[in-house]
Amino acid sequence: MTKQSVLWGWVAGLSVIVVLVGCAGTERMPAGKSLYDRLGGKSSIPAVVDQFVANVAADTRINGRFATTDIRNLKSHLVEQVCMVTGGPCIYSGRDMKMTHAGMKISNGDFGALVEDLVKALDMFKVPAREKGELLGLLGSMKNDIVEVP
Ligand code: HEM
Repeated sequence: MTKQSVLWGWVAGLSVIVVLVGCAGTERMPAGKSLYDRLGGKSSIPAVVDQFVANVAADTRINGRFATTDIRNLKSHLVEQVCMVTGGPCIYSGRDMKMTHAGMKISNGDFGALVEDLVKALDMFKVPAREKGELLGLLGSMKNDIVEVP
């Protein structure tokens, strides 16, 4: 084998590696998108939050708790919060979850009812299972700061 053919062998081998790595990179791109982007970002999150709050308002298991709440303020803080925790370009400007819900004596049942209302809203907007699961996981991690009674 001549020096030249060895060199061409290396060039060909390296080209194959470059193409394979390039393809793998392209395939991975969608998974690299933030949950915020995959949920549809600025155009979808406020619509889902609107529907979610409408579901809570119609839910007799928990709607009494929001009797004196400024709903516009609640919605805007929920939009900011969902945007921020899903990797979007927002800063949540509301109170932290422990302080907000302190003394409300929220139970596991109340929490479950609210999650059901959120799932209904996500299903109405046909949010795929993967994104739904990720969002519920992020909000579920706040449960310990919100639920005070079993
Ligand atoms: C993952 C679950 C929950 C999240 C992410 C969440 C998030 C929030 C946020 C962002 C606010 C606004 C805070 C502010 O304006 O400073 C809020 C307020 C409130 N939340 Fe929750 N919450 C959850 C669960 C619950 C549950 C289960 C209940 C009761 C059934 C509840 C009852 C309330 C009430 C009544 C307010 C209004 C407080 C007020 O009027 O000052 N939340 N929540």
